[in-house]
Amino acid sequence: MKIGIDKIGFFTSNYYLDMVDLANARGEDPNKYLIGIGQKQQAVIPPTQDVVTMAANAAEKILTDEDKQSIDMVVFGTETGVDNSKSAAIYVQSLLGISSSARSFEIKQACYGGTAGVQMAADHIAMHPDSKVLVLAADIARYGIKTPGEVTQGGGAIAMLLSVDPRILVLDNQSAFHSENIMDFWRPFYKREAIVDGHYSTDIYIDFFNKTFKDYCDKFGRSLTDFSALVYHLPFTKMGLKALRTVVDDSPHSQKLLKAFDQSKQYNAHVGNLYTGSLYLSLLSLLSNSTDLHANDRIGLFSYGSGAQGEFYSATIAETMDSRRLASQVDSVLSDRIKLSVPEYEKMYADGLPINGGNVTFDAANDHSRFVLLGRKADQLV
Ligand code: HMG
Repeated sequence: MKIGIDKIGFFTSNYYLDMVDLANARGEDPNKYLIGIGQKQQAVIPPTQDVVTMAANAAEKILTDEDKQSIDMVVFGTETGVDNSKSAAIYVQSLLGISSSARSFEIKQACYGGTAGVQMAADHIAMHPDSKVLVLAADIARYGIKTPGEVTQGGGAIAMLLSVDPRILVLDNQSAFHSENIMDFWRPFYKREAIVDGHYSTDIYIDFFNKTFKDYCDKFGRSLTDFSALVYHLPFTKMGLKALRTVVDDSPHSQKLLKAFDQSKQYNAHVGNLYTGSLYLSLLSLLSNSTDLHANDRIGLFSYGSGAQGEFYSATIAETMDSRRLASQVDSVLSDRIKLSVPEYEKMYADGLPINGGNVTFDAANDHSRFVLLGRKADQLV
């Protein structure tokens, strides 16, 4: 039985910041951001978007009425949840009119939550082959104005529909994991910004990639040449390149993997980190922009969530994967964005992600997304 990703939807805010403008405002050489970090733009998330509205906007693009009735599980991976108790999945299920017979819940392990959802969905479908599972991965990455992490902010949502006989990616059911109690990045309840030990986090990421990739190869008798591409969780695009460089050499196959990596980072370079969704935006970027991938080609996926959990797993391209269709969806989201000046971004940043209780209203006049957050009334989202 073939199980995997049948549809992928993407959404991000319609505001972005240019990294050259940010570098100039922060007194940095623009090439540090463009080449050293590998980011060109970053999504800026207004108060009218949170993980619920972003995930609903991403899922709305891909679901038919028939899908909504046959989904029997909604899994929401996020580390930017809107409530300590009620899951963001329940809100999305209701906004989209997904069958109330579905099981809906939220899961968390930093950026790994999307992959936990995908693997859980695959196991569920293996037991219940008639079912479809909606996996949502949405986040807002905030580090703070004038911090080293500022250039690695971003946000957005990925929605994936998993089923049997998938039209995009067939999962191999072959994974290797590694988890360890590590304080590289965390988000305590009392803070609006992440706490991060930046350089340490990049070392741990590479260490977890090397451990899980080796473990995967030992377990399944595979090596680098079995892969047509490797895609990575991309907190910033240079991060994936650093990890890939630890396993490639001068061979023609390694050059092919480096070329595929370039294709897999295109969208992420314009959006920034969307935490749980980053690996899957990179997958979308590879599938949309590659001219060399063919049906049944095997790709490797490295998922990393600080704290920390890593997983390397593999999948093959489905016969029916339609790269032009995937590309047109992302291109329409990215081409329809408004560029903010640095002061405009700083103002939106200050307004964003409010955590104080009580009644709040947001001005949604400039947010033309299908789903917007208008405010909070008596501590309920409206
Ligand atoms: P920094 O200290 O400002 O940067 O912070 P740097 O001084 O290390 O420079 C970065 C790179 O730019 C270096 O290249 C420089 O050489 C280069 P590298 O040595 O790394 O290859 N550079 C230049 N290149 C060209 N022209 C120039 C120039 N100047 C310098 N003129 C850091 C960088 C990533 C640490 C910071 O942005 C940060 O703390 N970011 C947030 C943490 C992060 O993203 N960590 C990633 C791994 S952890 C992870 O992925 C999990 C996460 O997604 C969260 C979750 O799981 O929930 C974050």
